[in-house]
Amino acid sequence: MQTILVTGGAGFIGSHTCVELLENGFSIVVMDNFANSSMDAVKAISTITGKQFPFYQCDMLDKDAFEKVFTENKIDAVIHFAALKAVGESVQKPLEYYTNNLTGTLNLLQLMHKYSVKKLVFSSSATVYGSKNTVPFKEDMPIGGTTNPYGTTKVMTEQILQDICVADKEMKVALLRYFNPIGAHPSGLIGENPNGIPNNLMPYIAQVAAGVLPCLSVYGDDYDTPDGTGVRDYIHVCDLARGHICALKKLDSVSGCEIYNLGTGHGSSVLEVVHAFERASGKKVNYQIAPRRAGDIATCYADASKAKRELDWEAKYTLDDMCRDSWNFIQHVKK
Ligand code: WQD
Repeated sequence: MQTILVTGGAGFIGSHTCVELLENGFSIVVMDNFANSSMDAVKAISTITGKQFPFYQCDMLDKDAFEKVFTENKIDAVIHFAALKAVGESVQKPLEYYTNNLTGTLNLLQLMHKYSVKKLVFSSSATVYGSKNTVPFKEDMPIGGTTNPYGTTKVMTEQILQDICVADKEMKVALLRYFNPIGAHPSGLIGENPNGIPNNLMPYIAQVAAGVLPCLSVYGDDYDTPDGTGVRDYIHVCDLARGHICALKKLDSVSGCEIYNLGTGHGSSVLEVVHAFERASGKKVNYQIAPRRAGDIATCYADASKAKRELDWEAKYTLDDMCRDSWNFIQHVKK
């Protein structure tokens, strides 16, 4: 049985991937510094799966504490989620973002090298495609031109991992470029629960529907899209989590660095998401049209054919499923 170290395993995508790993016969070792998560998610992973696993509350910048994870466990592969991810905050605090996301990853890579761990799945983002490419985004397009330090850390980390694969022929890396993950585990026990006022669309809509926030601001209705609002490729977090298992299995038969988009290949507008959420929840979602948000692009969706072809993976859940599960989760959180 393979043992997978999951960094950031208490976070939104990390916790769902831990469940998927345990349900697919992997052992896991989980670490998280709880910068944007809590012990509740770690406990929920055990409740959902009925399985126990070692957990380390540890910061990747604390190299000594981090090394203990490697000395105390025999790690076969790493899935690396741990990072700061708030786009707006990254503009205000670039040093924090570069230190956390880059130094944290470099510490991980040094430890992987020292303990001869050769397989890595990395959380990248569709944000690496920047604003110059045209949709659908394909893995072989040039990347860069990001408009914020968060996105730039993803571009830089991809480059670092490519370079390491050139130098170390035993390294096997999957760079997974996520589109817009939403939804929650159907149990309602894990999901996206941001601190403070949400930045992202789905948690904001969910809180408006639940009566926690009064009104959604729709950032722009004058884009060149069918209804004028921004179009994104929303993907159910459980589909995304399953993609990690497929990528991990694929690493056994590839060498070097492979890139995969994880998206549905289909875009939905802000207003389509609002209406889908109203159907799923039976609640009205109040909204007003507001100016465009700095740094946003009109349309973003994946060409998801490479993951289908090479990983035998494709997204199964619909936008209605995603809204149903996000709504179910927020009902659980409110209790
Ligand atoms: C989606 C659409 C907004 C909020 C970001 C990061 C990306 C990834 C996911 C994460 C856009 C509109 C939003 C609101 C709105 N990173 N919107 N009102 O910007 O596509 O992607 O999150 O860790 O790297 O860039 O996602 O959910 O913020 O926005 O109208 O209150 O909803 O303009 O069209 P985005 P999002």
